[in-house]
Amino acid sequence: MTQRLAPLLLCLVALIAASPSLAQDRANGELIAKTWCAGCHNVDGASPQFGQTDAIPSFSAVAGMPSTTATSLRVFLSTPHARMPDYNLTQTEIADVAEYILSLKK
Ligand code: HEC
Repeated sequence: MTQRLAPLLLCLVALIAASPSLAQDRANGELIAKTWCAGCHNVDGASPQFGQTDAIPSFSAVAGMPSTTATSLRVFLSTPHARMPDYNLTQTEIADVAEYILSLKK
């Protein structure tokens, strides 16, 4: 019985491993960044956005900081900040945005 189930289990594992929802989606992160973050942050290094000041780092500057990692971004975006609105992003959205920010590293 166990032997006959084995191929089925393998298929299930393969399906779960291939599931796109588990992978970080940089394109989705870019969309979130441009929708929710570009008002304050310079997201893609292009035109300055309204309200942008030196006190608000561009995302490429964030990516270039030695302290920036996927984990540091996840922690930052999972906790409230006085001068930044809390968007209540899901863990998946946070991972996607972090992936996008890290992709801007030069
Ligand atoms: C209302 C303006 C505003 C919006 C919108 C905003 N931020 Fe920020 N963000 C700030 C400010 C101000 C800081 C400076 C950090 C501080 O002093 O609290 C900051 C800092 C950060 C940092 C940390 C940089 C560092 O020094 O480590 C990250 C990462 C970040 N923002 C990501 C995002 C993401 C992702 C979004 C969109 C989901 C977003 N921000 C939307 C204002 C904003």
